[in-house]
Amino acid sequence: MAKKVKVLFVCLGNICRSPTAHGVFRQMVRDQNLEHLIEIDSAGTAAYHIGKAPDARSTQVAKGRGIEMQDLRARKVDFGDFIVYDYILAMDESNYSNLRELALPEHFDKILMFLDFAENWQEREVPDPYYGGPEGFDRVFDMVTDASEGLLKHIKANHL
Ligand code: 4NP
Repeated sequence: MAKKVKVLFVCLGNICRSPTAHGVFRQMVRDQNLEHLIEIDSAGTAAYHIGKAPDARSTQVAKGRGIEMQDLRARKVDFGDFIVYDYILAMDESNYSNLRELALPEHFDKILMFLDFAENWQEREVPDPYYGGPEGFDRVFDMVTDASEGLLKHIKANHL
């Protein structure tokens, strides 16, 4: 059996952006019957919300668009993640530099900006919606959906 491609989405708290990416990408992988080939998780660089369910504002937007993410629980990135995962996808520049600080140089090529896979956004960062209004959560969902489509295309072209 082929080795699974392992994808880890990373933001700061692991309660808004990375669980949204996790939920959206998971659904795409399920819809294409690729669950046996792609493994998915998400994590945060900060410890504030370990064990918590995603922020209700994120879950609500996702539910409205047909994506369930209520079952996810926040965890912190750990060193083993750099060994296990093939794609470690940062939501913003700060997540990216925090990940590089935690990793060994030999793992740097696994750490990428998630939005670099998006086809319809010029931005490189998924902005932190936590302290903003509801429109920020819709925007996160849109960005993450576009980047997830690009990521899945990339994985299918390069690994499957
Ligand atoms: P996330 O959003 O990184 O997308 O999960 C945040 C969640 C919590 C906090 C910051 C960002 N916080 O400061 O508690």
